[in-house]
Amino acid sequence: MNSFAERLVRWQRDHGRHDLPWQCDDPYRVWLSEIMLQQTQVATVIPYYQRFTESFPTVAALAAAPLDDVLSHWAGLGYYSRARNLHKAAKMVVERFGGLFPQDAAALAELPGVGRSTAAAIAGFCFAERTAILDGNVKRVLTRWAGVDGFPGEKRVETKLWDLASNLLPKQAADMPAYTQGMMDLGATLCTRSKPLCAACPLRDDCRAHIEGRQGELPTRKPKKAIPERDTVMLLIEHDGRILLQQRPPTGIWGGLWSLPETERGRDVAAVCRDRYGVVAGAQEAQETLVHTFTHFRLTITPIAVRATAMVTSIHEDGQRWFSKVEALRAGIPTPVRKLLLRTAQVG
Ligand code: ADE
Repeated sequence: MNSFAERLVRWQRDHGRHDLPWQCDDPYRVWLSEIMLQQTQVATVIPYYQRFTESFPTVAALAAAPLDDVLSHWAGLGYYSRARNLHKAAKMVVERFGGLFPQDAAALAELPGVGRSTAAAIAGFCFAERTAILDGNVKRVLTRWAGVDGFPGEKRVETKLWDLASNLLPKQAADMPAYTQGMMDLGATLCTRSKPLCAACPLRDDCRAHIEGRQGELPTRKPKKAIPERDTVMLLIEHDGRILLQQRPPTGIWGGLWSLPETERGRDVAAVCRDRYGVVAGAQEAQETLVHTFTHFRLTITPIAVRATAMVTSIHEDGQRWFSKVEALRAGIPTPVRKLLLRTAQVG
C-alpha cells in the first residue's frame, strides 16, 4: 500500500478542488483567503475575496487603506477582529519587511491573527515547506484515520494530533501544496462530519474508524459539563380540599408562575407553616423525591404533604392563594409542580 501522503496527493490531483480563486503561490492572497476561511464556508468567502482583492490587490494597498475601508469590505463576514488583525498584519509586513511576506511558517505565525495552522497552510502552499496544518477538518480526518479517542479541543489530544500530522507529511517538499490542499479537500468533501463518503476515500483501507465502524463516534464530542445540583423542599399544604400556592418573584426561574411554597431541607415544617403561611400543621408526609433538570442545574425536590388543621389567620401575604386542584392545574404552574399535583391523591 502506498503511504498516507502518496495516496492523499494522488487523490487531490485526481479528485480535489483546483479552481478555488486563491489557489496560487502569492502569500498575500493565500494569507487573505486563509483568514477569510476561518470559521467561514468557501461559498460565502468567494465573493468577499474577489471584492477584497480588486480593492486591495497587494499587501501594500491593504496597509495603506483606512481601517474603515477594510472593515466595510468585511461587513457581513463576521468575527471582525479578523479584519482588524488583517490590517495590522499588512502594516507590519510593509513596515518591518518592506512589503515582502515572511517566508517560513515560524515567522508567519508572528503576524497578528495567524496561528500555527494558518501559518503552516501559507508556508505549505506558497513555499512548499514541510509543516503540518491542523484545522477542524484535518482533526476529523486524523482522529478517524488513526482512531484517536478524546475530545480534540483537549490539550493532550491536540498535541497527539499535531505529532501525528507532522509524521504523516510527504517526503518530497514539492508535494506540500497538493498534500495540504488534499487534507482540506478530503475533510470538506468526503470525510464529512455526518455521512462520510468512505467508499470514495483513498485512506479507507487502513482507516481505523472505517475498519471498526466508528465514523459516528470520532472525533469524540466535547464532554458535557457536570451540571450543578440543588435541592429544595416543596410543601403541599392542603386545607378543605384546597392547596396553597405562592407566586414566584417576577425574575429568576419560573418568574411569575404559581408554585408550591418552598423551604430548605431540615427546617421545622410546622414552624414554617405557622410563621410564613398562617397555617396550623397537622399530619405530615414526606413523598418520593422528584428530579427536574434545567439547562444550568438539576433540582431535586422533596415534597412534603401537610394537612392544615386550622388557619391562624385567613389573611395571607401577597402572592399566596388557596387553589382547588382543578384551578391550580389551569393556572401557570411549573412542570414539576404539575407532576406533584397530579401525583397526590389527597388533593381534591
Ligand atoms: N479552508 C481553509 N483553507 C482553505 C483552502 N485553502 N481551500 C479551501 N478551504 C479552505
